[in-house]
Amino acid sequence: MATTSSSALPPTTRAVVCREYGKPLSFDTLQTPTAEPGSAVVKILAAIVDPSEKERLLLKERNVHFSQQPPFIPGNCAVGRIAALGKDATSLKLGQLVLLDPFTRGRDDPNAQIIRAVFEGPSPSAKALSHQEGLWRDGFWTEYARSPLENCFPLDEKVLLGSVEQGGLGYGIGSIPYLMKHAVAYGGLRAIDLKAGETIIISPATGNHSGAAVQVATAMGARVIAVGRNAETLKLLAESNPRVHPVHLTGNVGQDVGLLTQFGTVDAFMDFTPSSMQNPLHMKACVLAVKQYGKGVLMGFPHGDFSLPYGLVIGKNITIRGQYMYEGEDVRGLIKLTERGLLKLGESSGARVLDYTLDQYNEAISKAAESQAWGLQVAIRPFTE
Ligand SMILES: NC(=O)c1ccc[n+]([C@@H]2O[C@H](COP(=O)([O-])OP(=O)(O)OC[C@H]3O[C@@H](n4cnc5c(N)ncnc54)[C@H](OP(=O)(O)O)[C@@H]3O)[C@@H](O)[C@H]2O)c1
Repeated sequence: MATTSSSALPPTTRAVVCREYGKPLSFDTLQTPTAEPGSAVVKILAAIVDPSEKERLLLKERNVHFSQQPPFIPGNCAVGRIAALGKDATSLKLGQLVLLDPFTRGRDDPNAQIIRAVFEGPSPSAKALSHQEGLWRDGFWTEYARSPLENCFPLDEKVLLGSVEQGGLGYGIGSIPYLMKHAVAYGGLRAIDLKAGETIIISPATGNHSGAAVQVATAMGARVIAVGRNAETLKLLAESNPRVHPVHLTGNVGQDVGLLTQFGTVDAFMDFTPSSMQNPLHMKACVLAVKQYGKGVLMGFPHGDFSLPYGLVIGKNITIRGQYMYEGEDVRGLIKLTERGLLKLGESSGARVLDYTLDQYNEAISKAAESQAWGLQVAIRPFTE
C-alpha cells in the first residue's frame, strides 16, 4: 500500500551538504525524500542564509556544544509548497504554501528538542532524534525536504504574496522564512505576556534575532527602547516604527538607568546577550530601570555566568524567566500578526532582501556574512516556480 499522496516527485533532489565543519560544502544529487506517515515533503521556494553560516560551517571546527553532527544539509528556516503528504495528514493540502519550522521535538518526548541543521540538542534523547540520517538533522538548502507534519505551518498565500493593488501585502517569497527568526522573539515576548501599550527595553537590539524582536514587540503594540552601539542599525529600526527609541548606553549604571527611563515607566526588559559579550553591564541597569512588579526575559547565550542584583530583583518583585525558542502556538499567532499586516516583512520592515539560486550557495553565504546586524536578509531560492 502506498504511504503517500503526492504530486509527481522527481527521483532526485539537488542539495548543499556539510560533510565536515571547516571544509568546503559539497553540492550533491540525492534521492528525493518520501513522505512517510507523520511527514510531508516540501518543495523549497526560499530558505534563509544566516550571517553566521560562513564562520560556523566553513571557517571553524565543529562547536562541540552547539552543532549538528555531519553530514547534513544546512539551512534552518524555509518556506515551500507541499509536494507529498503522509497518509495520516488531516488538513494540509498538496500545493499549499507552508512555513517550515526547524525546531523539532520528539513525538514521544516533547522535551527532546533539536534545531534542524544547527543543534543536535543537549540530551541523549535529543541526539537520538537528530542522529537518524535522512530525517530531522537535515535543513533546507535543497530542492525537496521532508518535514514533520506539525512543523508545516500553512500560510495565506493570497494575503502575503498577493499584490498591494489586489489587497495583498506584496511580500517577496525570500522575506517569508525570516518569520522563524521573529518566532524566537515572539516566544520570549509571549512568555512575559507583553501587552499592547507597554514599554520594553531590548538589549542589545541590533542583532539578527534581537532586531527581529524590536519588530515583533512593536507589532504587538509595545513601545521599544532599543539598546545598541550600531547607530546605523538603530536608525533603521527607529525608522521602521515611531514607537522605537534608540538608546546608546554608556557603561555607567547610574547614567544608563537615566537613559533607559527617559521615556517614562519601563514595564519589561528582554536580554539578548550574545556569546561575544563578556560582561553585560546593561543587565543591572535594566533591573534598576524596570518598574516595581516589572518583568524580564533572558534569551541570549552568554559564555559563563554573570551576576544579577539579587536584592533588587526581590525588592522590586521582578519576574525574570529564561526562554528557549517557542511553542507551535507562538508560530500560529505570529503568522496571524503578519497576515493582518501588523508585523511587516522584508523591505516593508526596512530590511534588504537578497535572493540567490541554490547553486549560488557560496555567494549567498559570503554575502550574508558581510553584515551580522539586523537589516540584511539573504535567501536561497531553489525554485522560482
Ligand atoms: N533563546 C533562544 O531561543 C535563542 C534563539 C536564537 C538565538 N539566541 C541567542 O540570542 C543571542 C543574540 O542573537 P542575535 O542573532 O541577535 O545575535 P547577533 O546577530 O550575533 O548579534 C549580536 C548583538 O550583540 C551586540 N554585541 C556583540 N558584542 C557586543 C559587545 N561587546 N557589547 C555590546 N554589544 C555587543 C551586537 O551589537 P553591535 O552591532 O554593536 O556589535 C548585536 O546587536 C545569541 O547569543 C543567540 O545565540 C537565543
